[in-house]
Amino acid sequence: MSSQSNRPKVVFERISKSFLKREETLQVLDDINLEVADGEFVCLLGPSGCGKSTLLNIVGGFEKADSGRVTIDGEEVTGPSSRRIFVFQEYGIFPWASVWDNVALGLRDRPESERRRLVQDTIDMVGLSGFERSYPMELSGGMKQRVEVARALAVSPDVIYMDEPFGALDSLTRLTMRSEIIRIWEQEKKTILFVTHDVDESIQLADRVVVLSSRPGRIADIVEVGMQHPRDLGSPEYGRIKNRLYELLGVNHSV
Ligand SMILES: Nc1ncnc2c1ncn2[C@@H]1O[C@H](COP(=O)(O)OP(=O)(O)OP(=O)(O)O)[C@@H](O)[C@H]1O
Ligand SMILES: [Mg+2]
Repeated sequence: MSSQSNRPKVVFERISKSFLKREETLQVLDDINLEVADGEFVCLLGPSGCGKSTLLNIVGGFEKADSGRVTIDGEEVTGPSSRRIFVFQEYGIFPWASVWDNVALGLRDRPESERRRLVQDTIDMVGLSGFERSYPMELSGGMKQRVEVARALAVSPDVIYMDEPFGALDSLTRLTMRSEIIRIWEQEKKTILFVTHDVDESIQLADRVVVLSSRPGRIADIVEVGMQHPRDLGSPEYGRIKNRLYELLGVNHSV
């Protein structure tokens, strides 16, 4: 497989999608072409309704594109598979299961000893050691998100797809979760596709920000964020990228 390591991990090829709305056809995505490298952190940034979640559903195998295709490691996505692509959901954890069981549930096919080690390792990695026996209702919003991150990491999927995962968190917890996800990403070298409509979030996280235009969603541009982590949010480079992203989104952000 090493000879193929230069091959992109995820490829979106000419993806178009429309929905039938009453008598009308609503074109949501128009000719999306994108290559994501192995271990890359890509943010999809765009206004509400531009088709970000629809694109997620297509790459996750939940929805079929009208034309075009998505491949992961050269293999076409034809249906959902959590080993290929894990879709991080805001309310993905099971309320009736402990932290331990939530993480272990995705690993039912593993031998007991391996499963135990994996569950403990991922719980430790996301900073929830000591809460193994707690239930979701006993956890804060940020801690629940950590459980979902642990669930994602434990199954070791090829790609993790996150659709506005921190949207419901308060701003301080969001900042903490962003640095946590970067710490884990640097350690695990996962390929992450991260959907957001928050400009700052995209600059804080991404190697590249893919900016989608409003409906029908097209790639307006792809902006490279060549800054080292941890990123200096006050630097001129940060400001320059922020201006560019707002410009692409067609928003005047000066007040
Ligand atoms: N299953 C569906 N049937 C009909 N229309 C749909 C369906 N899914 C999405 N749409 C429409 O497609 C458009 C894009 O929706 P989508 O959820 O992908 O946007 P989004 O970029 O994720 O928005 P947000 O930032 O608000 O989450 C919307 O106009 C929505 O009404
Ligand atoms: Mg959405």
